Amino acid sequence: MADSATEMTQLVLPQHANVHGTLLGGTVMHWVDLAAAIVANRHSRRPVVTAAFDDMAFHAPVMVGQVAIIRARLTLVDRSSMEIRVDVESEDVITGEKRKTGTAFVTFVALDPVTRRPTPVQPLVLKTDEERAEHAKALERRRLRLERRRAHADD
Ligand SMILES: CC(C)(COP(=O)(O)OP(=O)(O)OC[C@H]1O[C@@H](n2cnc3c(N)ncnc32)[C@H](O)[C@@H]1OP(=O)(O)O)[C@@H](O)C(=O)NCCC(=O)NCCS
Repeated sequence: MADSATEMTQLVLPQHANVHGTLLGGTVMHWVDLAAAIVANRHSRRPVVTAAFDDMAFHAPVMVGQVAIIRARLTLVDRSSMEIRVDVESEDVITGEKRKTGTAFVTFVALDPVTRRPTPVQPLVLKTDEERAEHAKALERRRLRLERRRAHADD
């Protein structure tokens, strides 16, 4: 997990804000998507696409002038798909106060560079008890995600 983990730091400027003067949810999701894509690229060393974006939760606002820290790490690898957990934190650069502001689980699929079809990726090596626990939860999330996908396919 550590080999592909990624941290992005963004200063929140007025052009990132909504009408309340806080970081726009869509901008957070864009940064979450980018951080997760880097993790998926680093693990698979293949072109990747976003397949699913789940459970994006905004726990607290990030103010203009604060720093947003976006941390992404791999939690599950199947055949061609990878689940990446992304945590967002705010940092007040004057006081140094940090706060958890968001979480999401993003699924990326690796593609063969020529055929552009899903292609197998190397398995995930779990080294610590914490990683094994995170992976067990990810397996359950993936089961539910695929159940929902099948249900939507019938719509
Ligand atoms: C994601 C995509 C490549 C999957 O292609 P597909 O023909 O459905 O391929 P498959 O059914 O063989 O699925 C391939 C893998 O994707 C996973 N997958 C596909 N849709 C998924 C979803 N909604 N949620 C979770 N996993 C999904 C499958 O479970 C499978 O995983 P595995 O290989 O690890 O077992 C295809 O749906 C696609 O190109 N979607 C658009 C992607 C896109 O444009 N993203 C936004 C810009 S990057």
